[in-house]
Order: sequence, then C-alpha cells, then structure tokens
Amino acid sequence: MQRQASAPILSSVRLLIGPSCSTSVRTRSIHTSYRLRSHENPLGIPRRNPNPAPTLPRRGGPPQKSRIKGVKQIVVVASGKGGVGKSTVAANLALSLLTTSSLPRPPRIGLLDLDIFGPSVPKLMGLENAGDPQLNEDNKLIPLQNHGVKTMSIGYLLPPNPENDSPVVWRGMMVMKAVQQLLFDVDWTSGQGKEDLDVLVIDMPPGTGDVQLSLGQLVYVDGAVIVSTPQDVALVDARKGVGMFHKVSIPMIGLLLNMSHFTCSSCSTPHELFGSSAKFEKAANDLKLDVLGRLPLVTSVSDGGDAGRPIMVQSSKVGREVRSTMRDVGSKVWDWFSRRSVPNLGVRG
Ligand SMILES: Nc1ncnc2c1ncn2[C@@H]1O[C@H](COP(=O)(O)OP(=O)(O)O)[C@@H](O)[C@H]1O
Ligand SMILES: [Mg+2]
Repeated sequence: MQRQASAPILSSVRLLIGPSCSTSVRTRSIHTSYRLRSHENPLGIPRRNPNPAPTLPRRGGPPQKSRIKGVKQIVVVASGKGGVGKSTVAANLALSLLTTSSLPRPPRIGLLDLDIFGPSVPKLMGLENAGDPQLNEDNKLIPLQNHGVKTMSIGYLLPPNPENDSPVVWRGMMVMKAVQQLLFDVDWTSGQGKEDLDVLVIDMPPGTGDVQLSLGQLVYVDGAVIVSTPQDVALVDARKGVGMFHKVSIPMIGLLLNMSHFTCSSCSTPHELFGSSAKFEKAANDLKLDVLGRLPLVTSVSDGGDAGRPIMVQSSKVGREVRSTMRDVGSKVWDWFSRRSVPNLGVRG
C-alpha cells in the first residue's frame, strides 16, 4: 500500500522556502504542518519508528557510521566547486553503471541528489514533472524512476513553481537534518522483489560544508569520484574536496577531468578551452590519485541534461567520446567495488 506524500511534505517545505512562494502557503494545513515539523523534520515526512535515522551529537565524538538499508555500495560524485559538471557526471555515471557491470543480471542503480540548495537530478533525469514521491507503509519516500535508475531529490519535494526560482533558505542544522532524511528515509528497495540497490550514486553539492560533513560522519561511503575542470580555480577547490574526504575517511576512487577539450565540427584538433590538461595531471599526481578519464566539452551533454536525456541514453555521433569515457569510468568503479572488502557495520534506515 502506498500513500501520497505530497500534502504533508509539500506543506512543510512550502513554509520553509523563500518569500517568493505562492499564497497557497497560508492555508491551514500548512500552518499545522509547520508547528509539527520545522527543524527536526524539514522534509515533513510523517513520523515512523522502528529504526530512526542517527543524529549528529552536539557534543562528544562523531556518531557511528552505518550503511543505508537497502543499498549495497555507495559512490559519491563531488568537487569543491560548483558548475564543473558533478550532477551531469553523477547522472551519466549512474546510467553507465547499468551497462558496465559483470553481474549475471541487470544491476539495480540509484541516484540520490544531496544538493539541497541547487537540486539538478529531477531535470537531468527527465523527472521534473513526474509528480510527488509516494510514501510506503513505513512512511519512507519511494524513489522516482527514469532511464532505469531510481532517484530521490529534495527537488521532488518543493512546491510546483514554473520558474523554479523559489530558494530553499535553511540554516545549517536544518540542512543536516534534511540530509539525514534523504539518506535514511528513502525506500530504495521499493518495487518488485524488494531487492537492494547494487550501487547508490550520490550527487554532492559544491564545497566542503555541512552536507559533506554529515554524509562522511553518518554513512559508510565506498568511494568518491572527484570532478574538476582544468582551471586553477577548480583544481584548488578539488584539492580541498579531496582533503575533506580524507578527513572523514571516504576513500578516493579517482579524479575525472570534465570539459577537458572541445573539438569543433569543422576541424579535428582538440582545443583545451579551459587550460592545459597537464595542470590536471599534475594535481592528480600530487594527490596520488588515478585519472579516471577526460570528458570533452560537447553541446549535446548540456542540451541532453536540459532535456532530461543524459548523454548516456542518447545515440548522437558527437556524444560518442563522452559515452565511451563514461563507460570506462563505470567499469573502473565496478572494478573498485570488486576489490574492496566491506567492513561489518550496522545498517540504518
Ligand atoms: N562535458 C560537458 N560538455 C558540455 N556541457 C557540460 C559538460 N559537463 C557539464 N556541462 C554543463 O555545465 C553546466 C554545469 O553542470 P552541472 O552538472 O550542473 O555542474 P555542478 O553539478 O558541478 O554544479 C550544465 O549546464 C551542464 O549541462
Ligand atoms: Mg550539481
């Protein structure tokens, strides 16, 4: 049995977004939801027990890391900087993992958007108008699925807004609580068979702040892919991202260079528009990290993202190099998982 999550979730979220939201926020049910929820329950998910999400203690040491119920492996896609292509890579990596596994059956892949202030997954995955997520009988959110990938994003829980211009204005504690809910209050095993996801790809927000810290402290992450463009400004932030993940013991799979070059249609010379990839190689070398691949700048990558059709599900000739590189990255990620032994941790969610 599934129930609509939309009313309670939307009402609480509506109250917590910026001043440009519609007048419907003043209805009575919204007011009631606000009093009941706020900081402890920013997504407005109806209460459920029996295995509540861990909370970050205000004093003392960090909480015990755990695994997310219904998820076998987690890979995060991150970088210190915004606009370098994390979300685009995360979506295409999820799709690449679908076709590059050596499992004897189709793998089960999920994509979780942890960018609270700038969620991109609904648009990238063509789920902007897919409606609100449902709740299962345990009051867990049921992911929305497209292109064979299950997804969850705070973007699904925001009120309908044709311009998409209502900002989420939350303080640190609320952001961390929302992250916990997105980590532990989603039923990734929904659907036929109730089977676990093989891999959950997490699309991170830019920076080295609350979200990165919450994730690193609460959840055992199997590996991180750091995305960067070749400019110094991006590489400096990528280094910070790597440093942060080291601090919270998230193992690094490698670096991925995005927008490394552009080849125009009338010549075959690759132009390194954002600077020499040698700087990127040097950064990878200094950090002792593998280079997982170099993705060119291709208009069908951005057009496909805007249209909800990531390059991995397109067949355009111009996207061939990107698809081939992403398949290679997918194989390397599977390979990474197969070489790791998973520590015996508790499961939450
Ligand atoms: N390889 C690429 N070629 C062309 N456009 C790209 C490429 N990678 C990303 N983009 C575009 O760059 C913009 C920023 O990408 P996005 O994935 O949202 O970055 P981030 O998540 O790091 O903020 C988007 O418009 C996206 O379509
Ligand atoms: Mg993004």
